Amino acid sequence: MKVTVLGAAGGIGQALALLLKLDLPENSSLSLYDIAAVTPGVAKDLSHIPTSVKVEGYAGDDPSPALEGADVVLICAGVARKPGMDRSDLFNINASIIFKLVAKVAEVAPEACIGIITNPVNTTVAIASEVLKKAGVYNKNKLFGITTLDVIRAEDFVAEKTGLPAEHVRVNVIGGHSGTTILPVLSQVQGVHFSDQEVIELTERIQNAGTEVVEAKAGGGSATLSMARAASIFGVNLVQALLGKQGIIQNAYVDGGNACSPFFTQPLLLGKNGIERVLPFGELSPFEEQKKQEMLSVLHADIQKGIDFVLNKDE
Ligand SMILES: NC(=O)c1ccc[n+]([C@@H]2O[C@H](COP(=O)([O-])OP(=O)(O)OC[C@H]3O[C@@H](n4cnc5c(N)ncnc54)[C@H](O)[C@@H]3O)[C@@H](O)[C@H]2O)c1
Repeated sequence: MKVTVLGAAGGIGQALALLLKLDLPENSSLSLYDIAAVTPGVAKDLSHIPTSVKVEGYAGDDPSPALEGADVVLICAGVARKPGMDRSDLFNINASIIFKLVAKVAEVAPEACIGIITNPVNTTVAIASEVLKKAGVYNKNKLFGITTLDVIRAEDFVAEKTGLPAEHVRVNVIGGHSGTTILPVLSQVQGVHFSDQEVIELTERIQNAGTEVVEAKAGGGSATLSMARAASIFGVNLVQALLGKQGIIQNAYVDGGNACSPFFTQPLLLGKNGIERVLPFGELSPFEEQKKQEMLSVLHADIQKGIDFVLNKDE
């Protein structure tokens, strides 16, 4: 399996590349690309870690050499948030970056699974799908917005609140990946019961966790290390599923035929061709059902913004 990281010299990209060098199955290859000139050096640095994962690195204007033969492409190229910004403030720059990079993936590695980390994910995934459709290579089972960071944050915060071991907590997070569109389904967490007030507080903390990091970094960017861990969990699980491992379930933001939204985050059974089956997100409490209904207008507007961006590029 070949995994390509686009934006590999950045805060997320370098940490993600390190984790993939350590955790990808034996004899995989890892290809790094970034416009930053340091990228071949990042690959050289990683290549001195003795695992069987082969690493190569490319810089410059053309990602094509990094994309040739890729099975999975993870995209974290773009700008990150500073204090006072929300994810939609990143739209102007990141939309164009995703547009260009996904067009290259469509040309060079049209069969690859694509995982998008670049924010605003609610919109950049819609852009990617339109670009792939225009190129005639769209496969909805192979395009993912990576929302695993919301899952691991939710699991960490639930563990902290309950005293349960973090490794054993599982939280289903559905919806999208920004503010109120992030909906942790706390009523489904096994072995705990939260009061109504605790549910409100935990939900809000999970929704605002990214801002906690942005403010703590005081102008130095947004989450990178926890995001890299999240993307490596998703990426390694996807690779294992593509290789034929059975029963792998991950949540991601996908075009999954959900009645409430064209793109929605929910559990997915992964398989040899990407999404094997979109799984139901299960029963919601009245609070969660209300929050799901309230988020839909935001989610729909975020998706439409991505569709319009590609449409206006054509004109
Ligand atoms: N999905 C999530 O949960 C999540 C979480 C945190 C951050 N993010 C997003 O991930 C993105 C990257 O964050 P970061 O902290 O690593 O930022 P960063 O600024 O540290 O790194 C971004 C990298 O992208 C590169 N880049 C810019 N344009 C490029 C292009 N056209 N082709 C290739 N590379 C290009 C830059 O050179 C830089 O190395 C941001 O959009 C951020 O908002 C997503």
